[in-house]
Amino acid sequence: TERTLILVKPDGVKRGLTGQIIARIEAKGYTIAELKQVTATREVLAQHYAEHEGKPFYEPLVEFMLSGPVVAIVAEGHNVITGFRSLAGTTDPTTAAPGTIRGDLGRDWGLKVQQNLVHGSDSEESAAREIGIWFGN
Ligand code: GTP
Ligand code: MG
Repeated sequence: TERTLILVKPDGVKRGLTGQIIARIEAKGYTIAELKQVTATREVLAQHYAEHEGKPFYEPLVEFMLSGPVVAIVAEGHNVITGFRSLAGTTDPTTAAPGTIRGDLGRDWGLKVQQNLVHGSDSEESAAREIGIWFGN
């Protein structure tokens, strides 16, 4: 079955939303295959966010992701890559649909769009790459 890499970002961990986020993943019927709380390093984030290097939000995003522990999860299930992104909602929590993690739980932090609680891999290639970065092979 398909696997995806999910991160509960530092805002989610700090606000005590990890349990609620995991509950939504499980309620949808996905399985938690791996789970750990870790503080990211610049090296890991440079790999994870390689596609965004050079963009204006890259440095603030990396600083934010270093601001506290994250919970890294490998979730498993049929169409979990697309399914989790649908569960997460669109990138900006201000306009993410109600019913989604970002829409229900995400706060408007002004320009800090990066504080959107979760990350989910966006393709099979990204998922394989990101699972390798956070959990090794
Ligand atoms: P992820 O699941 O975290 O990858 O979110 P995404 O796929 O919805 O967004 P994308 O991969 O385009 O961007 C990665 C992360 O960078 C986002 O989740 C945000 O945290 C942040 N980000 C993306 N676009 C912006 C932006 O325009 N401004 C700021 N400040 N942050 C952004
Ligand atoms: Mg993305």
